[in-house]
Amino acid sequence: MTTHQNTRHFSPGSITLHWLMAVLLVAAVAAIEFKDIYPKGSAEREWLKTVHFMLGTSIFILVWLRLLARALSTTPPITPALPAWQATFSHWVQWALYALMVALPVLGWLVLSASGKPVTLLWGLHMPLLPLTASRDTALWFKEIHETGATVGYGLVALHSAAALVHHYFQHDNTLLRMLPGRG
Ligand code: HEM
Ligand code: HEM
Repeated sequence: MTTHQNTRHFSPGSITLHWLMAVLLVAAVAAIEFKDIYPKGSAEREWLKTVHFMLGTSIFILVWLRLLARALSTTPPITPALPAWQATFSHWVQWALYALMVALPVLGWLVLSASGKPVTLLWGLHMPLLPLTASRDTALWFKEIHETGATVGYGLVALHSAAALVHHYFQHDNTLLRMLPGRG
């Protein structure tokens, strides 16, 4: 049986995952940034942290589905074709984004594990901790790398989104349209 491969758009699964995960990322960052408006130890602050852990964990699960969807479908060509340097650069930025979507949740999980505090998520779910000896220094070290990785991620996402808009509005190619739901 042959499956129809739409050559003008990414697969519906890839498009759905791309935009869903963009929303989850913004929400995960917003939850952890807005926690600071509440005092330490307050229920609201703890809730926002829990939401951050849950959204971050969802990203970690979905990124594997996304990589699978990517492996099972072909990337639609950009027309007119990009200069080689732009194609190479965007390729590296995209792989850096995938790397961060895997690494940031793992680093966050390492922070919690090194803190040795069992985490109860919403709906009574428990987050299993990785087998690490609890140490404040180790936790702070992982936290530092987690936050630095997130800062690098902000820059990459800004660059990536700006590039998509420049391609659409100034270079008038189909880079962005390929990632939008469309006909045929
Ligand atoms: C792609 C997913 C993730 C992103 C983009 C992300 C981003 C961030 C950012 C920006 C901060 C720093 C906030 C600040 O400046 O204080 C932070 C803190 C933190 N994140 Fe994440 N994170 C992600 C996933 C996770 C996951 C899955 C976990 C744990 C399961 C986690 C655990 C933590 C912890 C423990 C902190 C420190 C919170 C505190 O200050 O008490 N993160 N994260
Ligand atoms: C408004 C925000 C965004 C816009 C306009 C946008 C647009 C696009 C477009 C047009 C593509 C296709 C690029 C190409 O094939 O060369 C793409 C791919 C991609 N985007 Fe975004 N994006 C946005 C946000 C994000 C975010 C937040 C992430 C995750 C951190 C992300 C991760 C990716 C990845 C990994 C790919 C590669 C897809 C593949 O495997 O081929 N994007 N995006």
